[in-house]
Amino acid sequence: MKKILQLLPLILPIYTFSNPLLPGGQTSQPFINKYSFNQEANNLTLEEKLDFSVGNGFFKNPWIFSPATTIARDGLGPLFNTNSCEKCHIQDGRGERLVQTGTQKVSTLIRLSIPAVTSEQITNQLKYGPIPDPIYGGQFQPLSSPNVPAEGVVNVIWHSKIEILADNTEIELQWPEISLNQLQYGELNEQIQLSPRIAPAMMGLGLLEQIDELDILQNQINQTHRTDEIKGKINWVWDRQKQSTSIGKFGWKASQPTLNQQNAAAFHGDLGLTSSLFDHPTCTNHQTACLQAPNGGEFEVSNNILAFIEHYTRHLNVPKRSKLEPEGEKIFHDAKCAICHRPSYITKTQNKLPALSNQTIYPYTDLLLHDLGPLLATNEEFLATQSQWRTAPLWGLGKHKLVSSEIALLHDGRATSILEAILWHGGEAQESVKIVKQLSSEQRQSLLAFLESL
Ligand code: HEC
Ligand code: HEC
Repeated sequence: MKKILQLLPLILPIYTFSNPLLPGGQTSQPFINKYSFNQEANNLTLEEKLDFSVGNGFFKNPWIFSPATTIARDGLGPLFNTNSCEKCHIQDGRGERLVQTGTQKVSTLIRLSIPAVTSEQITNQLKYGPIPDPIYGGQFQPLSSPNVPAEGVVNVIWHSKIEILADNTEIELQWPEISLNQLQYGELNEQIQLSPRIAPAMMGLGLLEQIDELDILQNQINQTHRTDEIKGKINWVWDRQKQSTSIGKFGWKASQPTLNQQNAAAFHGDLGLTSSLFDHPTCTNHQTACLQAPNGGEFEVSNNILAFIEHYTRHLNVPKRSKLEPEGEKIFHDAKCAICHRPSYITKTQNKLPALSNQTIYPYTDLLLHDLGPLLATNEEFLATQSQWRTAPLWGLGKHKLVSSEIALLHDGRATSILEAILWHGGEAQESVKIVKQLSSEQRQSLLAFLESL
């Protein structure tokens, strides 16, 4: 008896805190509503909560042009996509997909890159990332500060086709054809690759950051031994702080190694704000009015603000699940979804980040790149080929419809339902799709009920 009592403190944490209904471990909050994604982790100290609110302010409140009377938030642009993080990560949820009518939707942005051809370009792209368009840079920016011409207008045409399942159910699948018009700085490069990206939800990012690199390496090793087509790979990308190559974790192609760098890249590319990690404005040499425009000083985003934003983006919770769906979960495994969408991990022990340390989490991703076939192909990023994407985490999947006005899954938001998202999988995931298409409607409902419950 005494022995058991001694062991209890060791057994209890494992027993109590490994609970699939709490996908974010002790960070998970019980709110199942419109505000599910913008809650702070449930296990923060009072001081950490205050820092979270400060970070939230920098995420939410708009930045303004220079010169300005408030210097804390100026320097927006000269070329940019919108004026705050929250305009794209709406309620810390997903952005909106582009629409065919004239209204511009800012939260799907267009990455620009040209394919690496010479051996020098190939080496550079593998080490430092995509080669930008020489005139427009690495991202299309449809807005600008006064006296600087904006880059142009994004237009989309949605195409559609019908997919028929084994039980004769018909599903409409839509995909976007993007064009960039009213170009203000001349033509885009002839080889230009456009990659539309919808803003992902912000939940649980700090927990993903705290997944042990050894676990990700192990995912890759396990898959090399597989006899089928599923062979994920790590995207090794450039870490600006460490000045070395690291495992990519963030973004649809896993091309950012840390939240801090991802955040600084967003300030830079999306809002046109410089920081210690991205110290030059986004203007290219062809954009002279942009180069000459007033700026918000050096740097427009201080390290202090970066630290608050880092704290904020690390500590957004993953909402609680309300029920388990064992039948659907079994089909999820049988259809090989769980190979790429790896259910769970225990995060690293990290004394400096107690709320995120040693948590059993259920993100449903291996954080590896997979080839999903030519229908989803866009551009290259570091080791990611045109058709390779990072396995999207599935936690919170069923709550998008509460937080957002529409469901817009996959990297460009083309899928308006979970089933559509599955049917778009190709390449390495072809067999999974084949299995799903063969399911009886009852089995399909079970699978979808499981995914909705996440
Ligand atoms: C114009 C829309 C837009 C704005 C504004 C924006 N983001 Fe994003 N954000 C995106 C898109 C699109 C992605 C995916 C990028 C990719 O695939 O490379 C993203 C990805 C991220 C990610 C990684 C999420 C993940 O799941 O890997 C973080 C963190 C992030 N943004 C933080 C920020 C912060 C902080 C700001 C404000 C400084 C910001 N974003 C502003 C559109 C935006
Ligand atoms: C070979 C690896 C692989 C397999 C197998 C796989 N997926 Fe995926 N899944 C991915 C990748 C990669 C993405 C991201 C695609 C993109 O960004 O366009 C994704 C995206 C998704 C999304 C959209 C998530 C979002 O946030 O937009 C859903 C839903 C999904 N998968 C469900 C499933 C289900 C269910 C199965 C099994 C029937 C499955 N996947 C099998 C790799 C895989």
